[in-house]
Amino acid sequence: MSESSTQNLQDQWLLILDFGSQYTQLIARRVRESGVYCEIQPFDVSKDYFSERVPNGVILSGGPETVTEGNTPRIPDEIFELGVPVLGICYGMQALASQLGGEVESSDRREFGHAKIKMENESELMSTLDLASDAEAQVWMSHGDKVVRLPEGFSVTVSTDSAPIAAMEDASKNIFAVQFHPEVTHTPNGEKLIGRFAKDICGCDGEWTIENIAEDAIERIREQVGEDEVVLGLSGGVDSSVVAAILSRAIGDQLTCLFVDNGLLRKDETEEVERAFGVKSGTGNVLPITIKTVNTQKEFLEKLEGIEDPEHKRKIIGNTFIEVFEREADKLSNVKWLAQGTIYPDVIESAASKYGKAHVIKSHHNVGGLPERMSLKLVEPLRELFKDEVRNLGIHLGLPRSLIYRHPFPGPGLGVRILGEVKSEYAEVLREADAIFIEELRKADLYDSVSQAFAVYLPVKSVGVVGDARRYEHVIALRAVETVDFMTARSARLPYDFIDTVSNRIMNEISKVSRVVYDISSKPPSTIEWE
Ligand code: XMP
Repeated sequence: MSESSTQNLQDQWLLILDFGSQYTQLIARRVRESGVYCEIQPFDVSKDYFSERVPNGVILSGGPETVTEGNTPRIPDEIFELGVPVLGICYGMQALASQLGGEVESSDRREFGHAKIKMENESELMSTLDLASDAEAQVWMSHGDKVVRLPEGFSVTVSTDSAPIAAMEDASKNIFAVQFHPEVTHTPNGEKLIGRFAKDICGCDGEWTIENIAEDAIERIREQVGEDEVVLGLSGGVDSSVVAAILSRAIGDQLTCLFVDNGLLRKDETEEVERAFGVKSGTGNVLPITIKTVNTQKEFLEKLEGIEDPEHKRKIIGNTFIEVFEREADKLSNVKWLAQGTIYPDVIESAASKYGKAHVIKSHHNVGGLPERMSLKLVEPLRELFKDEVRNLGIHLGLPRSLIYRHPFPGPGLGVRILGEVKSEYAEVLREADAIFIEELRKADLYDSVSQAFAVYLPVKSVGVVGDARRYEHVIALRAVETVDFMTARSARLPYDFIDTVSNRIMNEISKVSRVVYDISSKPPSTIEWE
């Protein structure tokens, strides 16, 4: 993060210490939605961290551990020495209670679900809530342990039927704690409560808005790269497109985007990207941008010849991409910087503590190793942003909604959607079938109701009949899933008539398909992609 400017958008911020809760990122998103910048660090962050920048407040997340056993995550002592407000949530509350002299009791019965809070004593934190209103008194609980004795100086602020101490605070020391989860949508007043803490109690102004984020990012990019040239691998995905947009606003023609057409892209992909950036529109370019499209279809397909193993195919596609990118970037005379679309969840995941969830980092998102190989410096303008902020920024910068809300498309592209060996004639058929499926989804207004949809090419032959003629061709599978995080997913319950329409169109319009099937597998045990 840049620390060079004296007054920047991140001068007011909250620190969220992660004790391993599945909701930690949600806390951060709620804080940001209230207009306050925040960062997540593992609870065992190095002590030096606190000497570098002092936050305006600290939130302690929930977590899977119990303070009633020894050697569980502790709140670092440095937190209490910062002299800023602290809010503990769930495990964060229990850790506060046990470290400040209260008592926490373990229970083998978890309280899980909705509860109603009742005011017990005056509360700085809750003072803006109207607990007489049923909706505002609803909270979401998910805990086993509970605080049974308050630390000295604290008072109970609210209770529920099963938790007499559902929240506590010592307003004179600016320490607050809630047993429930204000960050989840099942706690309707949660956003208000987090906003109260972040703005009124911590004293932040709430300037983290999309307009300010854009302006600040532009300024920081200019400061960082100066007059230098920058290269970006533009894929047509959301992140790299937003990087392209913000860089073009910041440094105009110092930016060159390389768009590698590897022959494994969707139908009309190149044209769509160029259109989104106004390259060919001729009039009123929203974003004057230089895109150099590199046609390397032959090179990729030759390297993939005879290769059937999915991981082997992924490696070949990834390595060939790096070779092509390096070769093309070398042709640009003065490039000093490589731009990447790294976003905040990638950053948090690589810093996750040993107590955190087992995170899988998708290295395929970034062009790993390239900056060192090419001795380029890295510019990552989205490094502090969550995906929803990246999308809002893209819209703010004038990118079309269709691009910003596009389903994800994997780096290896159609390479992992043609099972087994990749051939250009298979890619041709798949591109057509996929385009029909997506076009029909959009027409039926179903595109945004599924998280990802695509066609898969199955190189097994099956018999069909058209008129009096026999058809002996390959099979197309349709896949559509609903998911929140892409880690688990269920097959989308698309209307039967809709699937029928898509199947008819594919069979009628593509003679090289004998059969269309719909994939109804869930993840797990299947995956979203077929390879
Ligand atoms: P799976 O198939 O693992 O996919 O359930 C989960 C999500 O990740 C995408 N995916 C990839 N993205 N390179 C990528 O950039 C890959 O090799 C890759 N494999 C899967 C997939 O499309 C889905 O959104």
